[in-house]
Amino acid sequence: MSLVPTGDLVAQAATERRCVTAFNVITLEHAEGIVAGAEAAGRPVILQISENAVRYHGGHLAPLALAAASVARSGRVDVALHLDHVTDVDLLHQAADAGFSSVMFDAGALPYAENVAATASAARWAHGAGLWLEAELGYVGGKPDSPASAHAAGVRTDPAEAADYVTRTGVDALAVAVGSSHAMTERSATLDHALIERLRETVPVPLVLHGSSGVPDGELRAAVRTGIVKINIGTALNISLTRAVRDTLESMPALTDPRKYLGPARDAVAATVHDVLTMLAA
Ligand code: G3H
Ligand code: ZN
Repeated sequence: MSLVPTGDLVAQAATERRCVTAFNVITLEHAEGIVAGAEAAGRPVILQISENAVRYHGGHLAPLALAAASVARSGRVDVALHLDHVTDVDLLHQAADAGFSSVMFDAGALPYAENVAATASAARWAHGAGLWLEAELGYVGGKPDSPASAHAAGVRTDPAEAADYVTRTGVDALAVAVGSSHAMTERSATLDHALIERLRETVPVPLVLHGSSGVPDGELRAAVRTGIVKINIGTALNISLTRAVRDTLESMPALTDPRKYLGPARDAVAATVHDVLTMLAA
């Protein structure tokens, strides 16, 4: 058990007709909690760091990436390290040296032709550096720069366009817009399972679901049955972590040692990861 390539975990999940789950890392406690939860569930996991998280850490990739890679290496299950939602080509170019085996290059907000050109160039560079590259077509809403709601007409991924996109760009996996939306705090999203099935038949690479925190258990399991191979979850961990911090501080207002509230927060992240991975493995 060790730090393994994202592409291997995704390929293994695709072969077994199951999914692999990627959880967002913002702090060291996220990374530790995610790996602890994966160990408790006995399942592999992907630690993903988004461009937004890098910005939060002053634009420096190395501190969080090296910490996450170290946590991954000490895990008792297979753990991969993925750089998520990258729009900045300079950041993309730092990925391999920082220990990542994969990147999601996010040109999803661009018009089709520009998305194809930028992503094809990113994929060429990534493959030259030995990295697996995910991209997005259609638009999964809920990010600060969202041009439209995920539920608006015209933003869902078109199967024929998606097949053309993968051929032209050479990407290894495709994030698709099928009804989920980023940063939902209630699990009320309804997915278009007929569209997922058509995408699976048309698109020659594994499909990725973003914005999965807002998707109920039954919908997630159905999405895996119909063709989703990688599931991305971020907000659900932040809800657990923040609730634990709030509860601890409310019950002990005089507390000053951060370990006393970050410890329960890390445990809450681990419990959420355990529950998600166990639910998806059932
Ligand atoms: O790429 C990360 C995910 O899409 C996270 O989305 O925070 O809505 O779960 P979420
Ligand atoms: Zn996402």
